[in-house]
Amino acid sequence: MSRLTDLIAQAKAKDATLGNELEREFRALANRRAFGLNFERHAPESVELPGRPVRRGDKVRVLPPRGSMDKGDQRLWKVNRTHKQDGTRLADLTLHEAAEPEAQTVAVEDLIVVAEMRDYIYPGLISTGKVERGGDKPCHTVINGENFHALEALTYTHRGKIDVIYIDPPYNSGASDWKYNNKYVGDEDVYRHSKWLAFMERRLQVARQLLKPSGALIVTIDEHEVRRLGLLLEQTLPDHTIQQVTIVNNPKGVTQGYLSRVEEYAFFCFGPECQIYSADDDLLTVKEEKETADGLARPRWKGLLRSGDEAQRKDREQMFYPIWIDPKLGKIIGAGKYLPLSEEPDFSLSNEHGHAVVWPVRKDLSLGRWGVGVDTFNALVKEGYVALGKYDKKRKSWGLTYLTEQHRKDIDSGTLRVLTRDETTGVADVAFEGAATRKIRTVWHRTSHDAGAYGTDLIGLFLGNGRTFPFPKSLYAVEDALRPIVRGNKSAIILDFFSGSGTSLHATMRLNRQDDGRRQCICVTNNEVKASEQQALKSDGLRPGDPEWEQWGICDYITKPRIKAAITGQTPEGDPIKGDYKFTDEFPMADGFAENAEFFTLTYETPVSVSHNRAFARVAPLLWMKAGSEGRRIDSLPDAGWDVADTYGLLTDLDAAAPYIAAIEAKGGIRIAYIVTDDDRRFQSVAQGLPDGVEAVRLYESYLTNFRFSMGR
Ligand SMILES: C[S@@+](CC[C@H](N)C(=O)[O-])C[C@H]1O[C@@H](n2cnc3c(N)ncnc32)[C@H](O)[C@@H]1O
Repeated sequence: MSRLTDLIAQAKAKDATLGNELEREFRALANRRAFGLNFERHAPESVELPGRPVRRGDKVRVLPPRGSMDKGDQRLWKVNRTHKQDGTRLADLTLHEAAEPEAQTVAVEDLIVVAEMRDYIYPGLISTGKVERGGDKPCHTVINGENFHALEALTYTHRGKIDVIYIDPPYNSGASDWKYNNKYVGDEDVYRHSKWLAFMERRLQVARQLLKPSGALIVTIDEHEVRRLGLLLEQTLPDHTIQQVTIVNNPKGVTQGYLSRVEEYAFFCFGPECQIYSADDDLLTVKEEKETADGLARPRWKGLLRSGDEAQRKDREQMFYPIWIDPKLGKIIGAGKYLPLSEEPDFSLSNEHGHAVVWPVRKDLSLGRWGVGVDTFNALVKEGYVALGKYDKKRKSWGLTYLTEQHRKDIDSGTLRVLTRDETTGVADVAFEGAATRKIRTVWHRTSHDAGAYGTDLIGLFLGNGRTFPFPKSLYAVEDALRPIVRGNKSAIILDFFSGSGTSLHATMRLNRQDDGRRQCICVTNNEVKASEQQALKSDGLRPGDPEWEQWGICDYITKPRIKAAITGQTPEGDPIKGDYKFTDEFPMADGFAENAEFFTLTYETPVSVSHNRAFARVAPLLWMKAGSEGRRIDSLPDAGWDVADTYGLLTDLDAAAPYIAAIEAKGGIRIAYIVTDDDRRFQSVAQGLPDGVEAVRLYESYLTNFRFSMGR
């Protein structure tokens, strides 16, 4: 930097104004984070909202004529007025934030509304269908929409309530795998990485507000952005413990550069209070504990002779000590004092009771050392946690194994149980309590994680008719990622805001089936049409927003039918799904799941000119979601001035507070009481009358203002 300071000084001497300007820019840069990730925050990001009616004040783009392959005018225009002429609705436009004013009048049909991330939005949800096979279980939700805005809406319904966020964002591979500001980001784009980082950072900033302190965020990624994402996560979640997992998801390999790539990655970001549960499988090694005839799993005892580095006698003088045994009984008696380095061990030694001695001798016959000190060893013998193995003639030594510190902790915590102790030797018989036994490793190598066989092909079974989705995860890989975090929490809430085909929801249903859980998954995905199909649709004169275009979008064409098929066990054509689920829980896919799911589309309202009834209908699903997405929903303003559903109630006429409170008391199990009033005092007085445990939530009378968001400002 001193070179730069030098140069600035020279510039100042020659041209003071230029020098001062340079210095200001340099200071601004130097004040940024010294280490870590520096990138252009590409503001503002914008998103097109196909199908959203055009209104005065909106920002819009002018679409190219139907059938044209042109990109069209990418500039933003502001709608000043709309009016009708000869039966056509027209909009008077001026160029947005332009130095040179420009104006034009364009048919509304040819406009598409654009929302910038810094704009205020008023999100709503409309239901587009549901599947119900789960009785009173909470409902999974699939939201079709831009995830940034959906996340903003979720800050109202789920702030601090999510147990796991699992996301599989576009990997920024340079192929047409994602769009920024409505343009695919190709590998020749010099801002490619900073655009991706800005895109991700904006969403992670909102998403972190949704996580419980005991929650975890899991993000999958591949080699294109793994290094930058790692830094971004460290910066965005400074209080989280972050671990990187390598997943072999394509064992056949793809030649990339010089080597053949077989893996992708997942960052696990554990919240400060996150608890991880053991699993039956560490996802890397072959199962090490032997299942025996009694059906119990036993841990593998560790060799007492130190192996690996620092395993020589001289490395730890005090860990070279004699162990006394009774070879006839196969019993360990205890350890004697360590033998100083200066003295040679005597292999024929026996003590006054006729006990034999065991010295630590390595395979190459050099003198080694034990893995624990004398005191620990004697304590272990007392507990029966050391066992005597066979005599090795060559080494003139005996095999000895013991229970590691982790095993001993597992005994204390109840994960491991001491069944009996041998009457003669005193050695404990230790087995795992229940099935969950092992810590998951940071490298996963399981055939079940193959994204081809258990992602693409599996989705094909559910959708039939050759429908394919470009980058699905293996169902079982997602299940394995979620399991350690939600295993002990049967009512966990899981969020996936890049849900694509809905694998995370499918995996959640499998996890529920394995332990009778009531977990729910919230999926958000846009309705993007595959890049390869867009050209054909365009040349047919179609545009985003046309029903004939939207029907091919991911959410409508893949996600919703897949979830419906998974629950009902039938393809969209009504045929039973052919095939069985594999691995942890094997059963016919045609059985489906006893679960409920509802599909929604995110809407964008404007507070002007929206009637109370319509505005309420759009926010009704959000009120229901905030109360747990369970049971009946109050979809319209109640005539009686109040209504009480299964988990929440709504009071719109404060004069009806008495019957409202009485109904909440009578119903029981109500979590939230919404009270609609602009008057703070009246809200307080109703809230005070509510039974204990019912949360009072105030809503403004103009419903949409309760849901005004702008995080990107
Ligand atoms: C890699 S895919 C996820 C695949 C998913 N894990 C599965 O197994 O099917 C990423 C998905 O995120 C969606 N997506 C990308 N940007 C989005 C955005 N801004 N809002 C909502 N969805 C988005 C894409 O449509 C794509 O389906």
